[in-house]
Amino acid sequence: MDDKLWAEVDNYLTSQLIKPDPVLAEARANSDAAGLPSIAVAENQGKFLNLLARFGRVRTALELGTLGGYSTIWLGRALPEDGRLLTLEANPKHAEVARANIAAAGLAGIVEVRVGAALDLLPGIDEAFDLIFIDADKNNYPEYFRWSLRLSHRGTLIIADNVVRQGKVADATTSDPLVLGVRRMHELIAAEPRVEATALQTVGIKGHDGFAVVLVTS
Ligand code: SAH
Ligand code: DHB
Ligand code: MG
Repeated sequence: MDDKLWAEVDNYLTSQLIKPDPVLAEARANSDAAGLPSIAVAENQGKFLNLLARFGRVRTALELGTLGGYSTIWLGRALPEDGRLLTLEANPKHAEVARANIAAAGLAGIVEVRVGAALDLLPGIDEAFDLIFIDADKNNYPEYFRWSLRLSHRGTLIIADNVVRQGKVADATTSDPLVLGVRRMHELIAAEPRVEATALQTVGIKGHDGFAVVLVTS
């Protein structure tokens, strides 16, 4: 019912505030052409991630869930020339499309796409990142939060996408494993003394969803 209005407003805001960008448009078009699902962050959300990373002077970032590299490009552009972005993707086809899009964006030198299930790859990573974007399979969000904390330092910003799920997150009786994963992550965040967090609902071309934003404070 409201979705049409939300989409119109997203289109208006984006057309006003975000310059048309052939590289990002191509990345989205290539992903669609390759049959990837249309679930990348919206343009205004991608820029939001980019601005957060610049505001935080982020030099190193970790992303869980690359898809076609759309959010990866927004984040990669926020990093300095000697920055580094490691992004993990389980689906080899998604990773292949992402690598091509990232190269076309001129970011191949600072972005590494690693292929595998994130929970298999995370134990092999031994560094602390300035920013971590959690956007892979939602049922594993609790484990992704635990790993994010391990790969953090004081001041790391952890952002998780899709934490509202059309409002389903507030349903304490849900048996949907994706929603349960998000709810369990929120419980872990609430119980974790090393972080301070909030979450914001979003509406727009992706419907009703939201981001959690978690600052590692010690
Ligand atoms: N961050 C992207 C969207 C990611 S969609 C963007 O906004 O542009 C979620 C991605 O997570 C999909 O590409 C999916 O293949 C990947 N994924 C699903 N389960 C995974 C897992 N266990 N490990 C790593 N990636 C996974
Ligand atoms: C969906 C949206 C996402 O942003 C995501 O990361 C995964 C799935 C969806 O709408 O199904
Ligand atoms: Mg997402």
